[in-house]
Amino acid sequence: MLTLVLGSAAGGGFPQWNCNTNLCRSARYGKPATKARTQSSIAVSANGKDFVLFNASPDLRQQINDNQALHPSGTLRDSPIRAVVLTNGDVDHIAGLLTMRERHAFVLYAADRVQKVLRENSIFQVLQSDCVTRKTFQLGEELEICGPDGNSLGVAVTPFAVPGKVALYLEDESSGENFGTQEGDTIGLQIRDTSKGTTFYYIPGCAQVDNTLKKRLQNAQLVLFDGTLFENDEMVKAGVGEKTGARMGHTNLSGEDGSLQVFKSLNVGRKIYIHINNTNPILNENSAERKLVEKEGWEIAYDGMEIKL
Ligand code: MLT
Ligand code: MN
Repeated sequence: MLTLVLGSAAGGGFPQWNCNTNLCRSARYGKPATKARTQSSIAVSANGKDFVLFNASPDLRQQINDNQALHPSGTLRDSPIRAVVLTNGDVDHIAGLLTMRERHAFVLYAADRVQKVLRENSIFQVLQSDCVTRKTFQLGEELEICGPDGNSLGVAVTPFAVPGKVALYLEDESSGENFGTQEGDTIGLQIRDTSKGTTFYYIPGCAQVDNTLKKRLQNAQLVLFDGTLFENDEMVKAGVGEKTGARMGHTNLSGEDGSLQVFKSLNVGRKIYIHINNTNPILNENSAERKLVEKEGWEIAYDGMEIKL
């Protein structure tokens, strides 16, 4: 099973269009230790030919251009992307669906609440029903991912709820401190090659590694995990916003409850941070934070990274 990291940054990308911090400026002007990154997405293939896209980022057009495996080939209008799987309804994970509007047939998988959001927003009707089949998955149940011809793509997913927050644009202030978040608004996925049996976890958004998640990830071969923020209040400290990671539905890397500490006891074979926010100091390859994270055995996803399992 081949995984291509199409976009390793969080929403906004790196650099973010309106961000003028030293970190974003370094990425914008091509300083070597601060590689630019597009927004959150991976593509997975069991046969090296047909791909399942996990999240459709606003940068999808660029990501397809940058990855030869995703180029059209064969017929005049074609794409190897046969299915799209969504982990939540955040803008950085669904806006790329609008790029996929040119009458290409694929199957769109998401949890019930995310499918409802897409149904209720008429702009997504550009994905016409005679081309795009929408399927709802159930939490905790493994589902084989199929292309539009109904044939299995050799990849199965098991979606599970993780602590998180409803998408920013759906927050309901009147619903109390969780803004109307319901179970399943943010999911993690176990992704399995159905012929080889190899598995890995893709969890780009997660507010807390609770006991249920710890148990699930124990001894996993590979985990791609939420690397949004190094510190809970780093956006406040950087002077670019008032929100903490906790408020945004993202755990942080540092601290007692941070992912660096929590993963130490999980015996995960390969740990990779993904969905990295443009304020996270690990984006600077020379930073102390980057060195610390690497010393703890973590890799930092980058656009174009290939992972074979
Ligand atoms: C997030 O991961 O918190 C969201 O992508 C934020 C956003 O929608 O901009
Ligand atoms: Mn995001």
